[in-house]
Amino acid sequence: MIYFDNAATSFPKPEEVVEAVVGTMTKTGANPGRSGHTQSVRAGEIVFEARRKLAVFFGVKNPMNIIFTSNATEALNLAIKGLLRKGDHVVTTSMEHNSVIRPLKRLESEGYIDITVLEGDEDGVVSVEELEQHVKSRTRAFVLNHISNVTGIVQPLEELCGFCREKGLITIADCAQSAGIIPLDMVKDNIDIVCFAGHKGLYGPTGTGGMVLREGFDHRLIKPLKEGGTGSLSDKEFQPEFMPDVFESGTLNTAGIAGLSAGIDFINSLPEGLGSVQLHKQTLQKYFIDKARKHVPGFITQSSPDGYGVVSFVLEGHSVSGITMKLSEKYGIMSRQGLHCAPLAHKRIGTFPEGTVRFSFSVFNTRQEADFSIEVLKKISESADE
Ligand code: ALA
Repeated sequence: MIYFDNAATSFPKPEEVVEAVVGTMTKTGANPGRSGHTQSVRAGEIVFEARRKLAVFFGVKNPMNIIFTSNATEALNLAIKGLLRKGDHVVTTSMEHNSVIRPLKRLESEGYIDITVLEGDEDGVVSVEELEQHVKSRTRAFVLNHISNVTGIVQPLEELCGFCREKGLITIADCAQSAGIIPLDMVKDNIDIVCFAGHKGLYGPTGTGGMVLREGFDHRLIKPLKEGGTGSLSDKEFQPEFMPDVFESGTLNTAGIAGLSAGIDFINSLPEGLGSVQLHKQTLQKYFIDKARKHVPGFITQSSPDGYGVVSFVLEGHSVSGITMKLSEKYGIMSRQGLHCAPLAHKRIGTFPEGTVRFSFSVFNTRQEADFSIEVLKKISESADE
């Protein structure tokens, strides 16, 4: 089996991630931050350790600025619905995933906010000039995708968010695809809120993700989406107002968080840490695209050879569903086809409504796998579409 669907979730997970998950379930087993017994305290330490590593990873000093959620979608819903107020204007981009556009559209349809979607250039990359043209006096926030899950294009986060900082706009970065691939430093990159997935580039289990607030960002600007037990201030009928409890009601996914923590250890254990991941993905992306362009008839890609391990393509004369079905059922190659929950991005690059086939690589993918898949794509391209 060849797994090229790492933008959906990375697989396989590193051995240490599996061990951490199993260890939590077999050795620790308790609820973090609830009971005073030693196992509960140990579970709390596991969670705190994960917060500490993530804080370093995102360039924030206070580990309490990491809020765990079940995925990037939940983090984005919390940031968007928690932050925006009636009458706000919001700017976003044409490369957004449904996890951004759907919460925004709901608020817009309820007459709560209005939205401007920046088209960007032909790849959907937005410039400061374009952003500036659409900022109004009521504009409160800019929500932007960092790396597109469709094509792998990268938005110039630092410049765009730097401009927003000057203008007093709040920035929410969807880093579902970029966390664990591109170094993120919330101070240097001027980002107020990062939403990330734990189960993709960070190699944690599914069901992990989070929202990170920049140091100094007033968390009281965001209303919690859920209230309930936090294990703190239990005598009070109101939700605690301090971080992270204000946003983290209910028992945390301790096993998943332990796995996520081990995923970060795995990245840090590579010879150049994140640099090794980046180099591997870029090298494989370039290798695959250059070779496929040469050897696979009708191969058209919407991704750049300089990207970070996400290649969207079509084979002329073949349906994308037919290609992925053959890849999976005949050749054991797992990929994702269609719109990748990002219809706006496909509209921008001209592949709506059919979408594309997407290969997305992890550090575990090899040139041999790329070579085999190119042979297979050549065969599919030369065969009749079924
Ligand atoms: N958003 C994930 C993807 O792109 C699930 O496949």
